[in-house]
Amino acid sequence: MGLENKHIAVYVTGGIAVYKAAEVVRGFIRQGAVVRVAMTQDATKFVTPLTFGALTKQPVLTDLFAGDNDQFVPHIALADWSDLAVIVPATANVIAKMATGLADDAVSTTLLATTGLKVVVPAMNEHMWDAPATTRNIATLTADGVVVMQPDTGLLAEGYSGRGRLPEPSAIVDFVQHVWAKQTGRLRGRNVMVTAGGTRERIDPVRYISNDSSGKMGYALARAAANEGANVTLISSIISLSAPDSVHVITVSGAQEMLDTMKTYFAQQDAVIMAAAVADFKPVSVAEQKIKKTADNDLMTLQLTKNPDILKTLSVDKTDQIMVGFAAETEHLLTNAQHKLIDKKLDMLIANDVSRKDIGFNADQNQVTVIRPNVEPVQLPQMTKTKLSEQLIEMIADLLPGK
Ligand code: C5P
Repeated sequence: MGLENKHIAVYVTGGIAVYKAAEVVRGFIRQGAVVRVAMTQDATKFVTPLTFGALTKQPVLTDLFAGDNDQFVPHIALADWSDLAVIVPATANVIAKMATGLADDAVSTTLLATTGLKVVVPAMNEHMWDAPATTRNIATLTADGVVVMQPDTGLLAEGYSGRGRLPEPSAIVDFVQHVWAKQTGRLRGRNVMVTAGGTRERIDPVRYISNDSSGKMGYALARAAANEGANVTLISSIISLSAPDSVHVITVSGAQEMLDTMKTYFAQQDAVIMAAAVADFKPVSVAEQKIKKTADNDLMTLQLTKNPDILKTLSVDKTDQIMVGFAAETEHLLTNAQHKLIDKKLDMLIANDVSRKDIGFNADQNQVTVIRPNVEPVQLPQMTKTKLSEQLIEMIADLLPGK
C-alpha cells in the first residue's frame, strides 16, 4: 500500500529549510501520492508558491481570502480532502499555534480544521527547539495524537552545529510512510518474521558452503510487510541488501544459527515467512584454522551432516502463527510443492521454478504458484519481486484472524 493515491496536504512554514520541502513533496509524488500545498506568508519569502504549484500541478493555498469564488471555503476544502497532513518545515511558531488551537492564517486555520493524521517535522534554531515553551508545545501536540519527527543534529543555518536541523527529505518521506502504515496498514500491530538469503555453512574461518539465493525475495517481503505496518524481524544470512529502518534485521550464518535465532522470536509472531534457502547439509565440524592443501593429497573429502528443518522444528511449538514456506523446484513443481506443504504443516507454500534463468534465484522478477491446504493452487503472473511481495503480503494478511 504505502502512500499510493493518498491525499497529502503539505504545510510549509517559514524557515531556511523551506527549500527542502520541495524535495519532500517530490518524494511523496514519487510514492504515488497526490499532494497539495499550503504556505504561510513567511514561507513564500523563501520559496515562491509557483515552485510547489509546478511540482504538484495544484493551486497552492496561501491566503484564506484570495479565492475568486466567495462561496468556496478553501481551508475546509483542503482539510477535508487530505488523508494526512505533513507540516514541513514546522517552525516554533506554527507548533505553538497548533498546540494552542490558534487559527490566524491559511495554514493554522486549515490545520485546526484537519481531523486526520498530522505529522510535524520541526526545523529551527537549537535554542528555540530547547526552549521550555517549545518542549511544552511538543508535549501537547504528542498528547493530542500529532506525530512529531525528531530534528537532526548537524550544521544549522546559523553556522554552528546543533540540534534542530530538518532531516533529509528521503528520511522524512520514509518516516511519514512508516507512520501512515503503522496507523492504517493491514498488518498494523502484527509481528511478522521473515528469513532471507542462502544460509552459509562454515567449513573453516574463511570458507563456507552456500547457494545462489540472493535474498531479494525475502527483503522485498520484509519491506512489503513493513509497508503494511507490521513489526518486522528479518533474519538474514546476507549483508549486501538494505532493509527499511523500521525493520529489525538480525544477521545469521548457518541454518542452526538461523533456527536458534528464530526460536527466540517465534512465540510472539503472527506470521513466519521462510524465504531463506536453507542449506540441506553442513560440514560435520568447522575447522578452527584455515584448512591447508597438502602436497601428498589431491583428494579432499568434506563430511556433511543434515541441517535441522527449521519450519518443521518451529511447527512443534506453533500456536496460531501463519507459517509460509517457499519451494524452489527444478522439476515436478506442483507435486513436490504439495508434498512439502503437508510435510512441513504449512498454511501457505510459494512454489517457483528455479530452472528458469529469468525468474527465481538472483533475478528481479519472479513467477510463482501459491499453494494452500484444501484450496486450488493460484498461479500468479510473472512480476517484479516487489510487486509479488505486495500481493503475497495481502494474501497472508487475509489468513490472519481479525484482531
Ligand atoms: O529446501 P526445501 O525445498 O525443503 O525448502 C522448502 C521450505 O522449507 C523453504 O521455505 C525453506 O526456507 C524451508 N526450509 C527449512 N529448513 C530447512 C530447509 C528448508 O525451514 N532445513
